[in-house]
Amino acid sequence: MEKISNRIYSVGVNDQDKVLFEGLWPIPYGVSYNSYLVVDEKVALIDTVECGFEEEYLANIEEVLGGRKIDYLVVNHMEPDHSSLVSYMLENHPELVIVANAKTVPMLKGYHGTPEDKIKVMADGESLSLGSCTLNFHMVPMVHWPETMVTWMPEEGTLFSADAFGTFGAVGDGIVDSEGTFEEYRDEMIRYYSNIVGKYGAPVQQALKKLGGLDIKRVCSTHGPVWETNIPQVVALYDKLSRYEVDRGVCIVYGSMYGNTAAAADALAMELESRGIPYAIHDLAGNNAGELGVSGAIRDAFKYDTIVVGSPTYNNGIFPPVETFMRALKARQVKGRRFYAFGSYTWAGASVKQLNALATEMGFEVLGDGMSFAQAYTREKCDIAAVADLL
Ligand code: FEO
Repeated sequence: MEKISNRIYSVGVNDQDKVLFEGLWPIPYGVSYNSYLVVDEKVALIDTVECGFEEEYLANIEEVLGGRKIDYLVVNHMEPDHSSLVSYMLENHPELVIVANAKTVPMLKGYHGTPEDKIKVMADGESLSLGSCTLNFHMVPMVHWPETMVTWMPEEGTLFSADAFGTFGAVGDGIVDSEGTFEEYRDEMIRYYSNIVGKYGAPVQQALKKLGGLDIKRVCSTHGPVWETNIPQVVALYDKLSRYEVDRGVCIVYGSMYGNTAAAADALAMELESRGIPYAIHDLAGNNAGELGVSGAIRDAFKYDTIVVGSPTYNNGIFPPVETFMRALKARQVKGRRFYAFGSYTWAGASVKQLNALATEMGFEVLGDGMSFAQAYTREKCDIAAVADLL
C-alpha cells in the first residue's frame, strides 16, 4: 500500500513469479497489477488485480480503509489481469456497486456471472461524484480491448489510464516516479507496448487526441510506475510508437538450425558495429536464443527503421520460429520499414524469397533480392559488406 495523495492510495501488487504474461510474453523483471483506492465521502476502488494475490490485495485495501466500506468498484478494463478479483471483491464487500460502461456488462456476466443490479452503467463522458472529487469516464476502445475506458479525476489532474502508459517490470518501494524512472523502464515500456498493445496504433492515436485537452498531472496506469515527473516522456513515447515512428538502426532477427544462418547474422552485426550503425540482434531458436525470444525481437522491430531477417530453408519454407516473428509483425500492422532477408539452404532455397514476399505484403521497402546461400556460411559466398552497404 502506498499513499499517493490525500485521497488516492495504491493498493496493487507485484507479480515476480509469473514467467509468461498472457501465457506468452516473458517477464524476467516481473509485472505489477496496479489498483487504486480513492477515499472521499464515498470510496471508489479502481480496477482489481490478477488472481493469486487475494490476501495481499485485501490486506492492502484494509490497511487504508480500516473497516470502512467500498461504495464503488470502477472496472476500466476487463482483461483478467485486472478483473480477476471482481467476484472476490463482491464477496468480501457485498455492498459495493460496480461502475462500468455498457460494453463491459456482458463481459462481467460472462467472466463473473455479475447480476445486472450490481452494475451502474456509465456513458462515455459521464461523471460520478465521490463528494469533494469527481470521476469522469472516457471510452478508449481497443486500448487495449473494445470495452476499455479511462477514469479522469479533474480535482487532482489524475488519469486512471488502464493499460495505457503501462510497462512490464515490477515496481519498487515507491510506485510514484522520479527523475530517471522513465529511462529505467523505457525498454520494458516499448516491449510492453509492442507486444501487448502494438496492433492498436490507430486507436491509441485516437485516445491520445481525445485525452489531449486534459491537464494531466498524474497518470495512474494498471502496470508500472505512477507517472508524475515523466509524463511528457511517457506520452511522447506512446505517441511515437503508435505512429510506428522509428529511429535509424537495424533489427537483426534470425533462427538457425546448424549455425550457418547464425554465422551470417553475427558477421552482419560485426560489420554494422564497425560502421557505427545502431543495431540489435535476436536469435529466435536453439540454446543461444535470448531470454526474451520473439518478444524482444518485436520490441526492436518497433524501435528501428530497418529489419533484417535470417532463416534457413525448412520444409521448403521459412524456419517456423522466424515465420512466427513475421506473422507477429503483420498482426501488429507494422509499417514503414526497410527490409532485407538472408539464410542458408542445402538443396533448394525458398526461405529468402518467401520472407521477401511476406515483407512486400506488409508494404515494407525490400532492399534487393536478399542473400540466399548454399550449405555452409563462408565469407566468399556471403558478401556481408555489400549487404551492409544496402542497409
Ligand atoms: Fe493489463 Fe489489457 O490488461
